[in-house]
Amino acid sequence: MPEISERKDFDPGIPAERVPAHVAFIMDGNGRWAQARGLSRLEGHARGVRTVIETAETAFRFGIRTITLYAFSTENRDRPPEEVAALMNLLRTFIGEYLPELVKNEVRLRVIGDLSWLPGDIGEAVRGAVARTENFGERTLVVALNYSSRDETLRAAAAYADDVRRGNAPAGKPDWATFARYLDTAGIPDPDLLIRTSGEQRLSNFLLLQSAYAELYFCDALWPDFSADDLRRALAVYASRERRFGKTGEQVREERK
Ligand code: FPP
Repeated sequence: MPEISERKDFDPGIPAERVPAHVAFIMDGNGRWAQARGLSRLEGHARGVRTVIETAETAFRFGIRTITLYAFSTENRDRPPEEVAALMNLLRTFIGEYLPELVKNEVRLRVIGDLSWLPGDIGEAVRGAVARTENFGERTLVVALNYSSRDETLRAAAAYADDVRRGNAPAGKPDWATFARYLDTAGIPDPDLLIRTSGEQRLSNFLLLQSAYAELYFCDALWPDFSADDLRRALAVYASRERRFGKTGEQVREERK
């Protein structure tokens, strides 16, 4: 993989100030991509990992500072055991082979989700990779593993209640910033743009709280086919939207002056 700075094609197609700081991806369609080619679902996921690597490089070259990838949901645990095992193997290989690239390109790895469920060696490898890259600050790759928003919220609520019991947090309704520190995404800015591939239009328990004001973008490309041009198209649509955060259009335009 060439150094990010060596790449020539870094034009996101929109002005730099309109490039979203954080883009989250629901990577859907690996199975259908494989089925259409008479391949196994596993081969679709393997091709999906290539798209992960290409998309991360492209996004960082475009100036996006944080990307989050929904790699494995708590609900995915109910897939056939051989598919779950295959996804875990891909993850094992991904962490092993991709960590040196992350280090070389100074990309910080963060993981969200309940790691306690992961096979022991993978949990360890993931924690090691997170620790190895924790001092990088410019670019962050967040991988959601055994993640769902409802599970994250319940774990955060339990941790908050524990802190109240121990006297480490005030009783009563916390403000959002305080509670957000108990979420897996603590310290990570909310996504500005959430992209789901494969034509499906739903959030599937992904970053529900963090996406309160995210722009949603759905495209037909199956994840293994998702390309730099698809990302450019998503960014163009994002840049054309007016984000109001509950205010009126007039207020927003006045603030921009
Ligand atoms: C959804 O496609 C995709 C997943 C459930 C897994 C996503 C995983 C990867 C892209 C590879 C692993 C990622 C990393 C970071 C190592 P689907 O299987 O639901 O597709 P379908 O809807 O067409 O059946």
